Amino acid sequence: MTRPLQIAPSILSADFTRLGEEIQEVEKAGADLIHIDVMDGQFVPNLTVGPLVVEAARRVTSLPLDVHLMIHDADALIPDFAEAGSDYLTVHVEACPHLHRTIQLIKEKGVKPGVSLNPATSLALIEPILPEIDLLLVMSVNPGFGGQAFIPSVLEKLKAARRLIDKIAPHVALEVDGGIKIDNARALRAAGADIFVAGSAIFGKKDYAKTMAAMRTEASKG
Ligand code: DX5
Ligand code: ZN
Repeated sequence: MTRPLQIAPSILSADFTRLGEEIQEVEKAGADLIHIDVMDGQFVPNLTVGPLVVEAARRVTSLPLDVHLMIHDADALIPDFAEAGSDYLTVHVEACPHLHRTIQLIKEKGVKPGVSLNPATSLALIEPILPEIDLLLVMSVNPGFGGQAFIPSVLEKLKAARRLIDKIAPHVALEVDGGIKIDNARALRAAGADIFVAGSAIFGKKDYAKTMAAMRTEASKG
């Protein structure tokens, strides 16, 4: 089953002095989701935003909010992120010792659960939970910062993730995040990605519509 490609601009690379306008501009330019990177300075070496910013984003867009939690102890904050208006809440397998419980908690709060894997983490770790989630996020950089280079070995993991999803949980969306540009869009789509997260490649250019259209054109060749 091939799903339409979705593009999720990551606001990490947006101009935070005009965050509301930036979100509205990418929405107008054809974004499908808004990706919000939450970092705690513990699980990853950077600190970003909390539920307050998710709640503010909720007020300026009707697009789904794709909230990527790069934090330890996600359980303690899931209720607040759900209340703030998250549509997807994605946690890291490396940061959740009781992943099944965490996924149940996200569902109880009425939010779609996602699970993310760092580049060095085996796909095997999420196989048991795959039927329980809505989104699998394969990281193609080590999380923490925007603007890093895509790690090429992740392509093989992405292909393996596609096969696994098709086999045991075809409802799951396959998302890839980190170093995504117009020039690797084709290979990423060919590997089976349904959702591209892109920060610097979109917000680093003036014309958001043109960049996303070029990404879609390249992806359609994959
Ligand atoms: C990295 C974040 C990404 C980041 C991607 O830790 O999870 O969402 O914003 O940025 P680019 O697209 O610039 O690699
Ligand atoms: Zn992210």
